[in-house]
Amino acid sequence: MRDCRVLCFFIALVLVFVHGVNGEDPYRFFTWKVTYGDIYPLGVKQQGILINGQFPGPQIDAVTNENLVINVFNYLREPFLISWNGIQQRRNSWQDGMYGTNCPIRQGKNFTYFIQVKDQIGSYFYFPSFGFQKAAGGFGGIRIWSRPKIPVPFPSPAGDFTILAGDWYKTNQYILRRLLDSGRNLPFPDGLLINGRGWNGYTFTVDQGKTYRLRISNVGLTTSINFRIQGHKMKLIEVEGSHTLQNTYTSLDIHLGQTYSVLVTADQPAQDYYIAVSTRFTARVLTTTAILHYSNSHNGVSGPIPVGPTTQIASSLSQARSIRWNLTASGPRPNPQGSYHYGMIKTSRTIMLANSAPYINGKQRYAVNSVSYIPADTPLKLADYFNIQGVFSVGSIPSNPTGGNGGYLQTSVMGANFRDYIEIVFQNWEDTVQSWHIDGHSFFVMGMDGGQWTPASRAVYNLRDTVARCTTQVYPRSWTAIYMALDNVGMWNIRSENWARQYLGQQFYLRVYSPANSWRDEYPIPKNAILCGRARGRHTRPFKK
Ligand SMILES: *[C@@H]1O[C@H](CO)[C@@H](O)[C@H](O)[C@H]1NC(C)=O
Ligand SMILES: *[C@@H]1O[C@H](CO)[C@@H](O)[C@H](O)[C@H]1NC(C)=O
Repeated sequence: MRDCRVLCFFIALVLVFVHGVNGEDPYRFFTWKVTYGDIYPLGVKQQGILINGQFPGPQIDAVTNENLVINVFNYLREPFLISWNGIQQRRNSWQDGMYGTNCPIRQGKNFTYFIQVKDQIGSYFYFPSFGFQKAAGGFGGIRIWSRPKIPVPFPSPAGDFTILAGDWYKTNQYILRRLLDSGRNLPFPDGLLINGRGWNGYTFTVDQGKTYRLRISNVGLTTSINFRIQGHKMKLIEVEGSHTLQNTYTSLDIHLGQTYSVLVTADQPAQDYYIAVSTRFTARVLTTTAILHYSNSHNGVSGPIPVGPTTQIASSLSQARSIRWNLTASGPRPNPQGSYHYGMIKTSRTIMLANSAPYINGKQRYAVNSVSYIPADTPLKLADYFNIQGVFSVGSIPSNPTGGNGGYLQTSVMGANFRDYIEIVFQNWEDTVQSWHIDGHSFFVMGMDGGQWTPASRAVYNLRDTVARCTTQVYPRSWTAIYMALDNVGMWNIRSENWARQYLGQQFYLRVYSPANSWRDEYPIPKNAILCGRARGRHTRPFKK
C-alpha cells in the first residue's frame, strides 16, 4: 500500500509531464485488442472489427476529470486509429485520434491514448476514424458520470443502457471505400442495427415500475434515425453533456453522430415491447427493432411496431427547438449550467460554412466552402509541431462560401485565435440533412431555420437556454448557427458525420492557436507519439519549455 503510494505518485507525475494527464484524479487502465472477426448482424457473414472480441466494442465508464489510459493493439492487416466523439481532449489534441492529429497505429503495433475527461459529463461514443473502417464496427459507448458530490437533476435510475444504433451495409468496408475512391456514391444502406444486432436481435430487460436511463447514439454512416418505444414515453435528460429540461417525447430524431439520454419508466402491463429505429428523411424507410423485456413478462412482443413521424422537416425542426438547457441544474461543476451566460458574450467573428457536392476531376466529392479536404502524408498536428513545410497552410479554406458550384482539392486548415468567442453558421443549400461535428469543443446551438442565413436571422436566436453540444444537424435548404468559445488550443477536425461525405472531403481542421507556447495552453507532444510521413525519425522533446 505504502509502496504503491510512493510508486503511484511517481507514475502519476511522469504521466502528467509526459502525457498531460492529471495526477490528482484517478486512472482507469484499458488494454484493447483490435482484431477482425466474423459478424452476422444482418444474417450474412461479414468481416467486422472487434475490440477484445466484442462488436460493438467495450463500454468506457469514467467520472468527470478521470484519466483514461487506453493501450490499443492493432491486430488488423491495415493501419488503425480510434477517435472519441465528443471527448474534448482539453489542451491535448495529441490524443484526438483523427488522421490530422495522430499517425495511424500500424498493423501489429500498439499505441496508448492518455485521455483526461476534464470537466465533462454525459454520453458519447468512440469509433474507428481511419479510412472507412467505421463501416466494419469498432465503435462503442462512453459514459462520463458526475462526481459523487455534484447534484444530478433526476433520481438515480435503476439501470443505464447504452444503445448504439444506425444504418449498416452488408458490403465489406474495402469495397465501400473503393466505390467512394472511384468517385461514386454509396448505395442505400442494407439495414439498421441496434447494438450490433438486426431485427429483434437485442433485448433490454427491465423491472416493472422502475425507471431506466437509455443513452442512444446514432453511430451509422449515412442516415438520420428516429427512435421510439412501443407504449412508452421518453423523458429527455441529457444531450452530449448538457442537462436538459425534462420534456417528454414519443419519438426522437437522432442525426448522425448525435447522442441523447432519456429516462424510460417501465409503467406498462407486463409484456415485451418493441424498441423501433427507422431511417429518417429517406425515400425508402428502413426499420429495425430491439426488445424491451419486462422481467415479469410471459408474453413476447405483439401488436404493430410503432410508426415513426410521417411529416418531414417541420416536426423534426420543432422537436430540435424544444430541446433546452436546464439553467438551474448542474453540469460537470457544482454551479448551475445557466451561470454561463453564453448569449451575452460578444462574438468576435462569424464563419459561414456551406456544404456542397461538386464533381472534381470527374469524381463525386464533397466540400466545405468549395474546398474538398484531402489528407496529407503527415498528420497536420505533427507537421505543425515539427514545423515541416508544405504539408498544409493555415488559411487554405475560406471562412465564407465562395459562390459557384465548383470545388477543388486541398488539405484545408482554418486559423483561429485561442480565447476568441465565435459564431459559425452552417448553411445548407443541398436537399439532404447535414450533421456537423466539431472536435475539442462543445458549442451552443443558437438557432436553425429554413432558407438563407442573414444577420437578421440572429433575431430568432435562443440567447438564454439552448444546449451546448458537439454535433448539430442542418436541415435541407436551411441554416444552423452556433456560438463557440475557442477555449482549447489544438488542431481540431470539423467534419460531416455522414461518413461518405467526410471521407470524400466534407471536413477540415481548425487550428486554434495561442502564441504563448505554454503548457498552460497546450500539453507537450506525448513521448509515445507515433511519427509517420515526414515526421518519421524526428524526436519528441516532451520537456520543450
Ligand atoms: C505499447 O504497449 C506497451 C506495453 O505493452 C507500452 O509500454 C508501450 O508504451 C505501448 N506503445 C505505445 C506507443 O503506446
Ligand atoms: C432542472 O433541474 C433542477 C435541479 O436543479 C430540477 O429540480 C428541475 O426539476 C429541472 N427542471 C426541469 C424542467 O427539468
